[in-house]
Formats: sequence, C-alpha cells, structure tokens
Amino acid sequence: MEAPFVFGKLAEGENFINREKESAYLKLNLTSGINTILISPRRWGKSSLVNCVAEQLNTESPDLRFCFIDLFNIRSEEEFYEAFATKLIQSTSSKMDDWLKNGKKFFSNLIPRFNVGLDPFHDFKITFDWKELKKSQDEILELPQKISSDKKIKVVVCIDEFQNIAHFDQSLSFQKKLRSIWQKHQTVAYCLYGSKRHMLAEIFESKSMPFYKFGETVFLNKISDEFWVEYIVKQFNETEKNITPELASRIAKLMENHPYFVQWFAKNVWQNTIDTCTPETIKTTLNQLLIQNSLLFQRELDNLTNKQISFLKALADGVTQFSSKETLTTYDLGVQANIARIKTSLENREIIDLWGSKIEFIDPLFRLWFIQIYLGKNSTF
Ligand SMILES: Nc1ncnc2c1ncn2[C@@H]1O[C@H](COP(=O)(O)OP(=O)(O)OP(=O)(O)O)[C@@H](O)[C@H]1O
Ligand SMILES: [Mg+2]
Repeated sequence: MEAPFVFGKLAEGENFINREKESAYLKLNLTSGINTILISPRRWGKSSLVNCVAEQLNTESPDLRFCFIDLFNIRSEEEFYEAFATKLIQSTSSKMDDWLKNGKKFFSNLIPRFNVGLDPFHDFKITFDWKELKKSQDEILELPQKISSDKKIKVVVCIDEFQNIAHFDQSLSFQKKLRSIWQKHQTVAYCLYGSKRHMLAEIFESKSMPFYKFGETVFLNKISDEFWVEYIVKQFNETEKNITPELASRIAKLMENHPYFVQWFAKNVWQNTIDTCTPETIKTTLNQLLIQNSLLFQRELDNLTNKQISFLKALADGVTQFSSKETLTTYDLGVQANIARIKTSLENREIIDLWGSKIEFIDPLFRLWFIQIYLGKNSTF
C-alpha cells in the first residue's frame, strides 16, 4: 500500500490542502497581469501553491499559458537567458516541431541552437553564441510579450528561487535590464518566488533597487491545525487505519504546523500504526525519529559556538526579548551587539528562521531533540 502522505515533492490533488485565500489571490493577480512576489521560508509550500494555481487556471482559462523556470542551479546571466528562452518556447508551443519553428520565428538577430536529446521533453535546450547574445539580450527578455502578442495568449512567467539573480556578476545592471523590459509587458504576468527572505527583501523592498515595487508581495503562512486534522484523519481512514482528531492535532502541533514536517511525521506515524493510532504510537514514532537523527543533530551542534547554543537555549525556553539585560545575563549571551550576529549566523546555517518579528527553529524535530535529548528536559508529553 502506498503511504497517503507526500513530502519532498509537490503537494497535489487531495494532498494539497487549505490555501484557498492564497490561491484566489494569486489567480486574480496572475489573470489580471499583476506581477506577484511570493515569499516563505523553505518548504512551506510555495511551489505547490503556484503549481496548484497553474493547474486550475490551465482548465479555467485556456488563453493563459504558464512557464516555469527554476533558478536553483543557475549562476550566470548566460545560463539565465538559455533557461528563459528554452522554457518559454517549450511551454507556449505544444509540439516539438513547433518548438523549433517558434524558436526561429521569435528571434531576428540571434540565431538559436537547438539541442535535442533522446527524450525531447526533458532534453531540449536552446543555446546561443555568447558573443552574439551579449549584443541582443533584449530579444530574449522580450520573448514573453512577443509570444503573447503573436499567439494571442496571456503568459505567466513563474521564476522559482528568484533571489539567485543576486549572485550573478554585475547583478545590479542585470536587474535594471530585466525590470526596464518586463515592466513594459502588457499581457504577461511575472510570479517571482523564493525562500531567502532577506535576499528577496533586498531585491524587492529596497527603494534603491531596480525591482522596487515591481509587484505585490504575498507572504505565505503555515497551514493551520484544523486543516491538518481533517486531512490526517481522512488519509488514515482511506487506507483503513484510524486516528482521532485529537491525535491528528498532536501530530500537527509536534511539528508546529510546518507543511513539510507534518506530512513527514504523519507518514511515519501512519507507518507505525497497525490499525488504530494511539498516543503510544506517536510517542514511539517520535522517539524513533529522534534517535535516527541524533547523530546529524549532534554534528550540527558541534559546529556552533557556545554563545550560539546559549541563544538556542533561550529560544527553546520561549524567550522573545533577546537583547534584554535579563536574557543576556541568564543565558550568558554577552553584550547586546552579539545578538544580531548570532541571529544572522544561525539563519545562514539554516537552523533558525527570522520571520517578521518571530524567530523559530527551522526543523521542529531538531527543536524537540535539542530540548529533550540535549537539554534533557521533558516536554510535550
Ligand atoms: N498545501 C499543502 N498541503 C499539504 N501539504 C503541503 C502543502 N504545501 C506544501 N506541503 C508540504 O510541504 C512540502 C514542501 O512543499 P513545496 O515544495 O511546495 O514548498 P516550497 O516552499 O516550494 O519549498 P522550497 O523552499 O524547498 O522550494 C510538500 O512536499 C508537502 O509535503
Ligand atoms: Mg519550491
């Protein structure tokens, strides 16, 4: 039997829950040509949300075409242009023959090279001569509007991990170029998203930056308890296992409603349930996972300084005022000026997330391990 929970890939179909408001908002924006920036910490469900909205709009609005570009492994302008051109041509024409035809039709100065592998859908790539490309980059950035006007369709360009453009050489002039061309596009909407809060804020919220006020920003939240309870109970029932709403809620709470971790933990509890989940099943599962991950977590702590560990202790105790005199003394954090440094380094190590005024452990299991195993405190049960 297949496990009725998903993690590490897109949540789709019945595994995609909640997000009604966010979906409606995104749908309205993207069909109206309003550029939208979507931000959340890692694995809270950005890609799943955009994918779900695209699926719905694909059936509801046949004149709308989505193009997905992921910048996670794109490190230079050249790679960006090639990925941009490839995905646009691919997603706006249905057949391989059209890709080649359109690939030629939409360029006047540039001569695209087509690389087609054994599996054309996955091994299709457009490349350019870099020297030529340098003279005619605008042609590529104009593609969405050109295709949109030619085919009389609206185009939505979705770019994941958009903050990566900040790593390109001469990123600022590159951003200026993108902005100046894209803002003229009338029937194209850009949906730009990513998880590096600070980098994205720097790109979109800083007045001196080219992308300032390029679109509306949406901050995605976690999924609340009631949706998890309904989903977990249903997924157990459909696979002929039982769980009470109270225990389903305990699963969500232990993982702090974090979309990825709730799905992951629920799958493990489900696996350990023969036919009815009991409090003992959840406890055993949690202990199992804590032991399995202990070495990894211990190694993570070994790399931290004493002050960073003290900060985590304070965070685990629920402290919110880190710079107060009392906290600095109780947790031996030294001077106030240390706090910002500690926060940044823990954030860079992906141990904590700074979300609005909130600070959280990224991994809820690590938090539980830190409290129960490392600090030896008995919590939660
Ligand atoms: N709407 C949802 N309903 C149920 N589970 C979800 C939902 N959204 C996300 N998840 C869970 O969270 C996981 C991560 O989702 P997704 O990949 O969409 O997040 P992301 O924010 O794009 O992550 P990353 O920052 O790594 O790109 C999914 O595999 C799934 O387990
Ligand atoms: Mg994603």
